Amino acid sequence: MNERETLRINEKGHLEIGGADCVELAKEFSTPLYVFDEAYIRKMMRVYRDTIEREYGGNGLVLYASKAFSCEAMYAIAREEGIGTDVVSGGELYTAIKVGFPPERIYMHGNNKLPSEICDALDHRIGCIVVDSASEADLIDEEAGRRGMVQDVILRINPGVEAHTHAFVQTATPDSKFGFSIHDGSAERMIAYLLTKKHLRLLGYHSHIGSQIFEKGSFVLAVEKNLAFAAQIKQKYAFEPEVLNMGGGFGIWYTDEDRKITAEEYGEYLSALIDAVKRGCTLHGLRLPRILIEPGRSIVGEAGITLYTVGAIKEIKGVRKYIAVDGGMFDNPRYCLYQSKYTAVLANRAAEPPTELVSIAGKCCESGDLIGVNMNLPAAKTGDILAVLSTGAYNYSMASNYNRNLIPPAILVNEGKAEYIVKPQTYEDLVRNDVLPPRLRR
Ligand SMILES: Cc1ncc(COP(=O)(O)O)c(C=O)c1O
Repeated sequence: MNERETLRINEKGHLEIGGADCVELAKEFSTPLYVFDEAYIRKMMRVYRDTIEREYGGNGLVLYASKAFSCEAMYAIAREEGIGTDVVSGGELYTAIKVGFPPERIYMHGNNKLPSEICDALDHRIGCIVVDSASEADLIDEEAGRRGMVQDVILRINPGVEAHTHAFVQTATPDSKFGFSIHDGSAERMIAYLLTKKHLRLLGYHSHIGSQIFEKGSFVLAVEKNLAFAAQIKQKYAFEPEVLNMGGGFGIWYTDEDRKITAEEYGEYLSALIDAVKRGCTLHGLRLPRILIEPGRSIVGEAGITLYTVGAIKEIKGVRKYIAVDGGMFDNPRYCLYQSKYTAVLANRAAEPPTELVSIAGKCCESGDLIGVNMNLPAAKTGDILAVLSTGAYNYSMASNYNRNLIPPAILVNEGKAEYIVKPQTYEDLVRNDVLPPRLRR
């Protein structure tokens, strides 16, 4: 096993996260269970925040991309750490506001924001809306006018840099439902359009080039292209960006095919981006914009693990061995969606070396319901506690009640102590919104 910053094997041979023994956690809180290490989350938020402070005079803001893992505690932690957040739905906005997140540090995203979401954003006076369509710009303008206010917005542009984990490609006409291309004139047309709007104040640009990216050059290239574009727009429209939002996308460790990046190295990624902004602004005669970044996965991904109990074991001779667990695609759909790879550990036998390649199956009625294939484990037995690592991002937030399974609870551990941040669902929760028309009642 590749020992993670947040994980260790204790003297009992058990996996520990944030100082808590995973076997004890499974006993106390039952499985399946999401476990998050608070110290790791805070450390990552601070690394980004402090890098902007130190290397850019604090002229920027880290926005936690809350789609990665959204719950009240996460917004409260981000609030305490003095960073902002990006929300992509009325539900995320509602949750942030509920815990007293400063609205001016909330940015709203989405390629098809609902009218109700736009109205909520305006009513809560959030800091900024990232515009992603002309119809949305019309609606924000109209609703802001109705409220007698001017809303700060930034435009989502597409620099044509597509990053793929360890490499990147440039495309002039990216095929994406997000943003406006800087190459085909559509971004320019949108800027000209936004500048005519009385109740919108265009602050600058946003781009997000992808996720799980390890290649610094991808981010640097995107900055360079965005600033070259900003310079053209300045010449033509006398509009200079006050804000440059570079999105998220820093990669994390899932398996040993990925690089393991320390918290400090993530700071270096951000430094490279800051340097590129400084260089680009000097080159193009632009004033230094406020820099925003939107990390999600790199803040919370490796901070989280999922604990399961091993149930049925089935070996199909010459084909594969299935280890079934009490969770599955309803708590982690990422293998089904993208064949994402994970590392698994038997938490109660964490010191034992792996001896076989197995597939970890969920309990849903789908043959594709797998957590992973060809995973290295010691010979698992029914009742073992299986930990799947790096499940903090895009697991709970993508969970569902498929097959009317209960979405697992989440706990936060800190110096060995654990507490719920998402409590267990009950069967009563599952039927809460069901309606049985009188004619169907017995
Ligand atoms: C606009 C935007 N910002 C930020 C993020 C967060 O990306 P990551 O979790 O890879 O850091 C995403 C992810 O899809 C995104 O679409």
